[in-house]
Amino acid sequence: MTGLHERLTRAADVIARRTGRDRHDVVVVLGSGLGGYPQTLHDAVAIPYEDIPDFPAPGAPGHSGTAYSVELGANRVLLLSGRVHAYEGYPPEVLTFALRTAVLAGCRKVVLTNASGGCAEGIEPGDLVLITDHINLSGVSPLKGDNDERLGPRFPDMTDVYTPSLRDKARAAAAEVGMTLREGVYLWWHGPMFETPAEIRMAIALGASLVGMSTVPEATAARHMGAQVLAISLCTNRAAGLAGRRITAEEVIECADRAAARFRDLFDALLPTL
Ligand code: HPA
Repeated sequence: MTGLHERLTRAADVIARRTGRDRHDVVVVLGSGLGGYPQTLHDAVAIPYEDIPDFPAPGAPGHSGTAYSVELGANRVLLLSGRVHAYEGYPPEVLTFALRTAVLAGCRKVVLTNASGGCAEGIEPGDLVLITDHINLSGVSPLKGDNDERLGPRFPDMTDVYTPSLRDKARAAAAEVGMTLREGVYLWWHGPMFETPAEIRMAIALGASLVGMSTVPEATAARHMGAQVLAISLCTNRAAGLAGRRITAEEVIECADRAAARFRDLFDALLPTL
C-alpha cells in the first residue's frame, strides 16, 4: 500500500490543481450547523471529497463532504465541510487524513468547530465557546501506529494545543461583532452514545467544561505536524443529567442550525485576521 505521506501529497496536489492555488494558509473544519457557511462566501471553489483521493465520505447529518477554497483578506482559506468521527469506525489515519492533507497543502493555521454538550456552570445551549485545552478520554490515540518523521515527531508536546495568539484573535473578533465568547476545556468521548449522568459528573470533576465526539483527533494531528490550532465549540445542550431531561440528536442539530448566523458573523470577522 502507498505510504501515508505519498497519499497526503497526492490529495494536496489535487486540491492545488482544482483550486488553482498552489498553497493554502488556513484550514477551517466546519462542524454541525456550519455546513452552509461556504455558500455565503463569494467565489468559493468547491471540490467534492469524492474527487480528492483517499478523502473519507462523512456520514454524520449535516456533514456534506465538500472542500471549498476562498481568499479572505490575505489568507487562502480551505474550508472542509464535513468530517468523519471515531464512532463511525474509522482508524486514526482516516480520521485525520483530510486535516493532514490541508496542513501539507500549506495550512499552518487550523480552525476547528464542533457541537458539544455543556457541563460547566454558565455554559448554555447556543453559547459559542473558545476551547482552551482538551482531555482525551476516548481511549483512542489519533497518532497510534507507525510515525512518519516527515509529518512530525513520535512524541509531540501537547502543552499549548490551542495556540494562545489565535485565541487572542478569536476574542478580538468576538468583541468586534459584540458577541460573548465563553471559554473552557473540551473532553472527547468516543460516542456515538451521549454520556451517562455519572460520566458527566466525572467529566466535571476532571475539569471539563464541554463534552463532545470530535475535534481532538484533528487538533492532535495538527499539532503533530506543527500547525497552530484554534477551536470554537457551539454548546447545543446541557450535558446528560444536567437539564433534567433526555438529549436528542435532533435538538443538537436544531440548536446548531439556529446558531449558524452567529458563527458566520464571528468567522467573517475572524478568518481574514488569522
Ligand atoms: N455529548 C457529546 N457530544 C455532543 C453533545 C453531548 O451532550 N452535544 C453535542 N455533541
